[in-house]
Amino acid sequence: MDKKLLTPGPLTTSLSTKEAMLHDWGSRDINFIELNSDIRQSLVALINGQNVFECVPMQGSGTFAVEAMIGSLTNKKSKILILINGAYGQRMQKICSYMSRNCIAYVVAEHEIHDCNKVENIIDDNKDLTHIFAVYCETTSGILNPIQAIADLAKKKKISLFIDAMSAFGALPLDVNKIHFDAVAASANKCLEGVPGVGFILIRKTVLKLAKNNAHSFSLDLFDQWQAMEANAQWRFTPPTHVLAAFHQALKEHLKEGGVMGRYQRYKENCKIICGGMTAMGFKRLLPDELQAPIIITFIQPDHPNFKFKKFYDALSEKGYLIYPGKLTVADTFRIGCIGHLTSKDMHEVLGVVKETLKELDIKLN
Ligand SMILES: Cc1ncc(COP(=O)(O)O)c(C=O)c1O
Repeated sequence: MDKKLLTPGPLTTSLSTKEAMLHDWGSRDINFIELNSDIRQSLVALINGQNVFECVPMQGSGTFAVEAMIGSLTNKKSKILILINGAYGQRMQKICSYMSRNCIAYVVAEHEIHDCNKVENIIDDNKDLTHIFAVYCETTSGILNPIQAIADLAKKKKISLFIDAMSAFGALPLDVNKIHFDAVAASANKCLEGVPGVGFILIRKTVLKLAKNNAHSFSLDLFDQWQAMEANAQWRFTPPTHVLAAFHQALKEHLKEGGVMGRYQRYKENCKIICGGMTAMGFKRLLPDELQAPIIITFIQPDHPNFKFKKFYDALSEKGYLIYPGKLTVADTFRIGCIGHLTSKDMHEVLGVVKETLKELDIKLN
């Protein structure tokens, strides 16, 4: 049996999602064309963006989608403010520097959110700002950034907001009628519970139509990808057919579960069980409840002579569960993800396995 993935993706998927990959699809065949079109429409519907947004899929991991979004929808005249409180905000800054985009950053610690008054001051001091980039759930720590407040501010100041919602999309609310933004990048293999290999960018049509000739890269050009797909409903280059077939099935299952709200409820319950159970065993969390997104939870590595992350990881792995190393720069941590095709029963089993492992390693935390 496969190990259960307590990670932020790739993550545990349903059997039916995996089974959807057991067929070969002709990329120019009508059946595949319809499947692809269905996926694009479903993703736009998830943000209530019908008629206003376009979905442009992009081969590759999530970073390819983020890079395509930045490269295709900004240009050398843009000036970007990046809100950074973890590795993925930093990655957007790195992408900007690779393609010589003019950007400034407002950086706070990995366990803190940005002060919107300060963001407003930065905007007022930089009258030439054209864009704000924000990460919805910063997966580095699992922190929930205040996307509504950031979006309200961007709208008030008439600045274009781009969101990296990689680990949030499909489980945290993102209704474009409430949260105003121009583009969002995400991928199949996180809260939508598809398999890795494809990302997508949802873009306000008025913004996409102006994006001709921006891109720094031929293969990551979203304008070109969109134009080609509009022209004959096909992908420009070889599509990840099996990945898309799995994604199509995963989206059906997302809808069946009750869409974004249904998925949120399951993940929230999973998160509550892990947080409560680990705290009761004596583990300390990085984030308070109000900043914790129900996606992935960061725990401080216990200060106990017998606690070595690798040993702990290996013991859990032997019992069938894969956790995730920490990614914080300021403290030794580890992470437990609560997304993927996992239920409250799985979460209780994880806690049982952690308890057993602590006993084996002779670690008492209370
Ligand atoms: C918020 C966020 N942005 C970007 C990425 C990059 O995605 P990938 O590793 O699939 O390239 C991740 C991956 O976990 C993420 O969590």
